[in-house]
Amino acid sequence: SAATDYQAEDARISQGTVATNHTGYTGSGFVDYTNVKGSYVEFTVDAAFAGTASVALRYANGTATDRPMDLSVNGAVAAPAVSFPATADWNTWATKAVNVTLKAGTNTLRATATTDNGGPNLDRVSL
Ligand code: GCU
Ligand code: CA
Repeated sequence: SAATDYQAEDARISQGTVATNHTGYTGSGFVDYTNVKGSYVEFTVDAAFAGTASVALRYANGTATDRPMDLSVNGAVAAPAVSFPATADWNTWATKAVNVTLKAGTNTLRATATTDNGGPNLDRVSL
């Protein structure tokens, strides 16, 4: 079935701000992670059935340095230190797909920066 988009600016944000100072985002903005380890965005997502889902995270990283993040599902790290490598600039967005196991119904999906650089700018997740 078609993917559902969950905008980062509508998610639960810890140590980050909603921003619009670059182009190419979807929805009404994106999340600018505070440049600190542990900053996160947490989405509440629905799964029609239990099993593996491909989660696509749309992000920008206008630096030359990777901005890895742990992806947690329902409080447990499901994919550690997922790489979010450089995009051409902060106006250029890329998609990183990660397979995770979800339960049927409501799940939390949290993307947490693992380095002091914080996360990349995050536009949305789709699954
Ligand atoms: C710049 C950029 C921000 C980005 C930040 C960063 O300030 O404008 O969008 O989040 O760099 O390095 O994290
Ligand atoms: Ca930032």
